[in-house]
Amino acid sequence: MPINCVGILTSGGDAPGMNAAIRAVTRSAIYNGLRVKGIYRGYKGMITDEIVEFKTQNVSNIIQRGGTILKTARCAEFKTPEGRKQAYDKLVEHGIDALVVIGGDGSLTGARIFAEEYNLPIVGLPGTIDNDLFGTDVTIGYDTALNTIMECVDKIRDTATSHERLFFIEVMGRDAGFLALNGAIASGAEAAIIPEISLEKDQLAEMIETGFRKSKNSSIVLVAESDVTGGAMGVAERVKKEYPQFDVRVSILGHLQRGGSPSAQDRILATRMGVAAIDALLDGQRNVMIGVQNDQIVNVPFSKAIKNDKPINRDLLNALRISSI
Ligand code: F6P
Repeated sequence: MPINCVGILTSGGDAPGMNAAIRAVTRSAIYNGLRVKGIYRGYKGMITDEIVEFKTQNVSNIIQRGGTILKTARCAEFKTPEGRKQAYDKLVEHGIDALVVIGGDGSLTGARIFAEEYNLPIVGLPGTIDNDLFGTDVTIGYDTALNTIMECVDKIRDTATSHERLFFIEVMGRDAGFLALNGAIASGAEAAIIPEISLEKDQLAEMIETGFRKSKNSSIVLVAESDVTGGAMGVAERVKKEYPQFDVRVSILGHLQRGGSPSAQDRILATRMGVAAIDALLDGQRNVMIGVQNDQIVNVPFSKAIKNDKPINRDLLNALRISSI
């Protein structure tokens, strides 16, 4: 059946570049003769009927804005079959016959279940600062968050150096270490403590045993938030007990990592992916996430994107280790 009207929503944690993606999906759909409807507040907006027809002007002047003009939410009702039925009925009322969902792991899991239950064509865009979706080299928002982290660490370095302190800086990532590892490389930090490696070895002990502080009077370590790493507070507590010679401080960057105007990279990525989402739908693709691999757009089945753990590139660990001696 040909598609006539595409619904678009953002869901889960917001990410810089989501607006650029909304803009590209909307304009590409209209360019291809389709109608577009914006669904507010993620899956919740389907249930509560917050659905508005979008024209090209609805997405003017948003490419540079962080956050998402469609708002976002994590929706418990959508996790139940009753909630999804209500959502589907609203889509039918609005004549929406395909969806583009922009979000992370949880949002695409919801999309997969919904698509299977109602035989609805859905295409996902990876929108998360965590960069933890399999099948795409990068996700929308990751580059901006990385730049934000780098700017923050640069500032913390000034005070760390002046006071000759050991700083543990916690960054987001929800059980994924991409922000911590690449943030550490970009900011010239001494080390990163990430969940992917925590199970293999005691990263803190190794860091201290290898004398990471021998040649320096101050140090910065990025810690990925996670129960597995213990977060920056957990690591600092350990240092206070086991290595009391260090003057330790903790800084948790928190939600500022999710804000701000998207970088050029994120705007370009979001625009390419938004256009590719409509191309995929018109091409009869369904239940796929748009990804980018080696700078080429690819379609990744939801089942692969969500289920597989995206591996950390070991070259990066090595680069950090060598460059921080
Ligand atoms: O998935 C994006 C993310 O920012 C994670 O890095 C973080 O763990 C989580 O969302 C925080 O979620 P919330 O804003 O709901 O506290």
